[in-house]
Formats: sequence, C-alpha cells, structure tokens
Amino acid sequence: MVARATIKYCESIGDEVVAVTRQEMDISMRWAIREVFEREKFDAVINCAAYTDVDGAETNEKECFEANASGVENLALFAKKYNCGFVTISTDFVFDGIYKGFYTQRDTPKPLGFYGNCKLQGEFLARNAYARSIIVRSGWIYGAGGTNFLSVMDNLLADGKKIKAIYDSFGTPTFGNDLAKRLRELAELDLPAIYHVTNSGEGTSYAGFAGKVCELRGYDLNLLERASAESLKRPAPRPQSSKMACLFSERFGLEPLPHWEDALKEFLNADQADQADCRR
Ligand SMILES: NC(=O)c1ccc[n+]([C@@H]2O[C@H](COP(=O)([O-])OP(=O)(O)OC[C@H]3O[C@@H](n4cnc5c(N)ncnc54)[C@H](OP(=O)(O)O)[C@@H]3O)[C@@H](O)[C@H]2O)c1
Repeated sequence: MVARATIKYCESIGDEVVAVTRQEMDISMRWAIREVFEREKFDAVINCAAYTDVDGAETNEKECFEANASGVENLALFAKKYNCGFVTISTDFVFDGIYKGFYTQRDTPKPLGFYGNCKLQGEFLARNAYARSIIVRSGWIYGAGGTNFLSVMDNLLADGKKIKAIYDSFGTPTFGNDLAKRLRELAELDLPAIYHVTNSGEGTSYAGFAGKVCELRGYDLNLLERASAESLKRPAPRPQSSKMACLFSERFGLEPLPHWEDALKEFLNADQADQADCRR
C-alpha cells in the first residue's frame, strides 16, 4: 500500500523509480538484494516492505523477524556499501499505548506484541548498520490498494455491510499519499534520525474514523456497531493509545501533514481512480 503511493508520488515529481516486489527482491535474502544493487544505481532507497500481519506475527515469528528486523538490516548494509540514502518505515506499535498523550521521540518504546518488537529491532539494526538510516514511525496508515480495516471500511459501508468499530483504541490516522510525500522529502533531507509521521490533528478512535467516513459519505450511522478492543479477542496485544507527534519535522522545515479529516476527504474523493490504478 505505502510502496504504491510512494512510487506514484516519486514518479509524479520526475524521479526515476526502481520498484521491486518481494518476488524480485526478498529482503531476507542478501543475495537477492545484492543482485538489485549490482544492477541499478540508487541515490536513495525507501523500504516499504514489511511483514504487516500483526496477529499472524505472534505465530509466524521467523517470517516477521526476517522482514521487519534482519531484512531491514540487510537493506541498510547494502545502502551503506553503495553509499545511498536509506529510509525505512517503523510503527506506532513500538509503544505500549499506556500514555494518553502524543508519543514523541523522547518516549521509550516498549512494544506489546511480536510485530512491534521486530519493528523496533529493525530500527536498532538499521541504525547500527548504517548511521545514515532514516527511521519513519507512522501509524494507522490507510490508502488505495490497502487491505487493512481503515482502507476497506468505505467499501464495506458502501455495500451496506455492518462493521464493528472499536471505540477505545486511539491513534493518529495517516493517509498513505501524505506519508509517501514525506518519505521522499526525508530522503532528500538526508538527516538521519527517527521521525514520527502522521496526519495532524488530535487523532481519533477507529469508531471516530468510521463515524467520519459515514458523515462524509452520508452512510447510515446504524451500520457502525461500537465494540471494545477487548471484545474482538485478537491474538496480538495492541497499544490502547498510540498517537504520535514529531519533535523534528517542523524544526527541519517540513510542513505538518494535513489534518487527518482533510486527508480522509481526499482519500475518499480520489479513491475510485486510485483503486483502478492499483488493479492495473
Ligand atoms: N498499515 C499500517 O497501518 C501501518 C502502520 C504503521 C506502520 N506500518 C508500516 O508501513 C510500512 C508499509 O506498510 P503497508 O501497509 O504498505 O504494508 P503492505 O501493504 O502489507 O505491504 C508490505 C509489502 O511488503 C512485502 N514483503 C513482506 N515481506 C517481505 C520480504 N521479506 N521481502 C520483500 N518484501 C516483503 C509484502 O509482500 P507480500 O504481499 O508478497 O507479502 C507487501 O508487498 C511497513 O513497514 C509497515 O510495518 C504500517
């Protein structure tokens, strides 16, 4: 999802993009990475690959670790060898979610589940392998071609399906297109650090996000069934509140990303064209 948006944005500003799928370059295999780096020359590498099944990670530990931790290190090592910029994406799930305010880079990560744990290890490994690494923690990402709840909610509601919306988990939603632009800006800025990248505003709950989709689309609010996170009995623990804010972006001259409600409007308006693009 984020890779597609990033490719689209970078191409739109005239970058020459080499986009590789897992089939072409599994990041858990150094030989596969080597082949690509020997074939192409990069100014910067933006890593959007990850094992993203948060519940599945609790049992598929090896696959998760290889994509989210050692795979990130592999890429960082090659970026170092070929002296190109390196940006990799991490997650709000590195935090335990007990704090009700906005997590910044001053807060100590304490992941609850295996997915967050591996993502945090990926951060460490990347920074140890290559001091030029830029880590971008983001959260609640949605966008065209996405299969997660936030991305597909509009389609489900449009079909008149009832959805369960959690009212007691909070985060800062992030539109993939806005994240993509920021990833590219950070690659250009080339200032190694951990960045927190989300749409602006106070954040919301899943139910709040779903309510906004209903309001903007004119769907019947009765399609939303409010549920507690606990009631879903999901295998992986998740932070109850993982809202994030960045200490650096604005100080480094980057504009705040649009308010999440404006970003959501843009997603819903652009959705049809983008979904068609994703099917191509
Ligand atoms: N979605 C969110 O809400 C969210 C929140 C916070 C952070 N993030 C982070 O944002 C980034 C992008 O996420 P996304 O939502 O765009 O994920 P996505 O749609 O699930 O895409 C991840 C891609 O990585 C590929 N992949 C998995 N293992 C790989 C490997 N070993 N080598 C190469 N490619 C591999 C997957 O290929 P297959 O499809 O073949 O498996 C998939 O194409 C990830 O770092 C994720 O952890 C996401």
